[in-house]
Order: sequence, then C-alpha cells, then structure tokens
Amino acid sequence: MPENVKVEQLSTERLLLTPVTYADAKDVFELFTDKKVLKNYGIPPHKNLDESKKLIRLLTNSNHFSWGIRQKNKPERLIGLCSLHDWNKAAQQVEIGCTLSSKHWGLGIMQEAFRKLIDYAFQQLQVQQIIGKTTVENGRAIKLVEKLGFTQRDTYSERQPNGDRKQVVVLIKEISFQ
Ligand SMILES: CC(C)(COP(=O)(O)OP(=O)(O)OC[C@H]1O[C@@H](n2cnc3c(N)ncnc32)[C@H](O)[C@@H]1OP(=O)(O)O)[C@@H](O)C(=O)NCCC(=O)NCCS
Repeated sequence: MPENVKVEQLSTERLLLTPVTYADAKDVFELFTDKKVLKNYGIPPHKNLDESKKLIRLLTNSNHFSWGIRQKNKPERLIGLCSLHDWNKAAQQVEIGCTLSSKHWGLGIMQEAFRKLIDYAFQQLQVQQIIGKTTVENGRAIKLVEKLGFTQRDTYSERQPNGDRKQVVVLIKEISFQ
C-alpha cells in the first residue's frame, strides 16, 4: 500500500496537470465566480482572493490530490481543477472531482484529464474503485464519467451549502484485470 504519495505534474496530449499553489489564486477566483460552474455546487461566488487561497489550502491536504489544468499551448492560465480526494486506503477507494471554466466546456478537456487521473488512481494509489458523485441534474458531469466507464450505483438526498436539498447520484468505476 503506498504511504506518502506527492502530487506530481502529469501530462496528456493537450494538457499539463500541475500541483496547485497560491500563485494560482487569481485563476481559481475566476473559476469560483463563474456562474455556470457554481450552479452545480450551491455555493456563493468567492468574494476575494483570500477565499480562493483558503480553498487552495484545503485542496492540498494529505488525502486530497488536486491538479490545476493548463493547456500546453497556453500554460500560464489555470483553466480548471481535477482531484482525487477522500482517499480511503483501507477500502481501496478514492473519489474523483473536477471543475472547468465554462469557456472550455465541450472540448473533451476533462475527459482527457480524467483518463490520466483514473490511471493514477489505479496505479499509484492502488485503489480498486473510483467514485464520482454529482447532483442528478448535472448531466454534463454524469455524461463525462459514464463515457469513461463509470456506472450509476446509488442516489441519495443531500442538503447543499445554500440549504437546497438535491438528489445526488453515485457512480463507480472498478479496476479491470484484463
Ligand atoms: C463537468 C464538466 C467538467 C464537464 O465539462 P465538459 O467539457 O462537458 O466535459 P468533457 O471533457 O467530457 O467534454 C465533453 C464534450 O466535449 C466534446 N468534445 C470535443 N472534442 C472532444 C475530444 N477530443 N474528446 C472528447 N470529447 C470531445 C464532446 O462531444 C462533448 O460535448 P457535448 O457535451 O456537447 O456532447 C463541466 O461541465 C464543469 O466544470 N461543470 C461545473 C463543475 C462540476 O459540475 N463538476 C462536477 C461535479 S462535482
């Protein structure tokens, strides 16, 4: 079982997945003031860069692996975040999560990033299952993971940070031994 896994830079055909630092606060602020992004989270927009820095601090704790998403042809901008979080070593499970600037939706960017994270979860974290959770109305996120082989297993009702109750769907991808 791996012990001290550090977030390392990953690379795909079009993307660089890099550790997130306070230097990314301005781009994280843009993401968390993007109305289309926030619609899925039930949280208010960030008010200032300090709030974005606080989030960055949370994203870098010990069982939370987060990467900033950058396009290789424009690496100075962080356009999204993807993560493997709530790693449960005993249960050999980890959750996958993501946020992409709405200007970049519809280009297959998160599919490309998730393919890399899925390999990372099975090979580096040695999990047996990757879990995705989102609200039932988040069709884009559901389609994203279903295209990558996740299947719907469960739904439950959850109170959102803004007080609304929403149905959440749980999707799971299991390691295959072919
Ligand atoms: C979830 C989210 C990342 C999905 O973004 P997305 O761009 O739709 O995701 P994908 O990477 O799967 O892209 C798929 C789209 O790219 C298109 N596409 C274009 N080029 C492509 C390529 N080379 N490869 C694959 N798909 C491609 C697909 O046709 C598809 O478009 P469509 O939805 O119009 O059919 C985005 O909606 C988001 O950040 N939402 C807010 C946060 C959120 O909900 N997070 C998840 C819940 S916790």
